[in-house]
Amino acid sequence: MPRHFLRDDDLSPAEQKEVLELAAALKRDRFAEKPLAGPRSVAILFDKSSTRTRLSFATGVSELGGSPLVLEAAVSQLARGESIADTTGVLTRMVSTIVWRTFGQERIEEMAAHATVPVINALTDEFHPCQILADLQTIAEHCGGLADGDAALAGRSLAYLGDGANNMAHSYLLGGVTAGMDVRIAAPASHRPEKGILERAREIAATTGGSVTVTEDPREAAAGVNAVITDTWVSMGQEGQDGRGEATFSRYQVTEELMDLSGADGDGSGIFLHCLPAYRDKEVAASVIDGPRSRVWDEAENRLHAQKALITWLLHHPDESTASHAL
Ligand code: CP
Ligand code: NVA
Repeated sequence: MPRHFLRDDDLSPAEQKEVLELAAALKRDRFAEKPLAGPRSVAILFDKSSTRTRLSFATGVSELGGSPLVLEAAVSQLARGESIADTTGVLTRMVSTIVWRTFGQERIEEMAAHATVPVINALTDEFHPCQILADLQTIAEHCGGLADGDAALAGRSLAYLGDGANNMAHSYLLGGVTAGMDVRIAAPASHRPEKGILERAREIAATTGGSVTVTEDPREAAAGVNAVITDTWVSMGQEGQDGRGEATFSRYQVTEELMDLSGADGDGSGIFLHCLPAYRDKEVAASVIDGPRSRVWDEAENRLHAQKALITWLLHHPDESTASHAL
């Protein structure tokens, strides 16, 4: 059976650490791994828009010696009603790995159930686990680097502000506690994380020494953290939905004043992260994202390294069963 990466807790804490250490190594020596040499193809499918994910996977697959095949859903037979099962049956006869950005998590779960090659979640409505690997790499770089071993992320903290019910919030919860981090979500009561994901995050935290806090107070969340993070207030596919927008989230804008509360010593030394695309003076003040505490370009670059590490790791671990999870 292949290993899949459909959500953040598909990697155990030890496995996540292996992937992040490989990502750091690949950043130091970009062409050290060639698991796709031959070349083997990787299908990269998009049901939603993308800039970073498309570029980082296509570039990464090429750098690993493989051939990236980018397919837009709109021009594939999927959009004309071909089933996920039939599409997967064809893909697995041709490519070594499938990367898919789609809508409901159940769609990628269905693909994985039919796939005989690894399937990687490149964002669903529920999770964006590849982004979190890149973010963890970026936080570790700020906190001393993954070469320093266990200490890089365990016990560190992040605060995510804004839409607590979206894919990024859910992935920070699961991915953050898997790394042993203190994960804080500041969101309005109307947009709290999904209950089952919170429970799963607390379950993982109990084994890793991490912790989970959900609060409506952005200042409480940001106080003393290593990284302050936000995301767009309106995710793809949610346009026009009631309750998502300025009126609901303006209190959660990441401002200079909020950043000043960050840093382990409360000295304002925390970094700012955003998966991008960003909307300046909406979820983040322009002076923050364009200022000295912002690490958004490192974060975007780390998508490349983290995903190359993930593909390499998945291809080298074909026989182990995916970690069980239940919402
Ligand atoms: N952060 C991210 O996934 O960006 P794209 O939507 O541009 O791929
Ligand atoms: N939450 C955002 C992330 C974009 C990378 C969305 O789903 O649109």
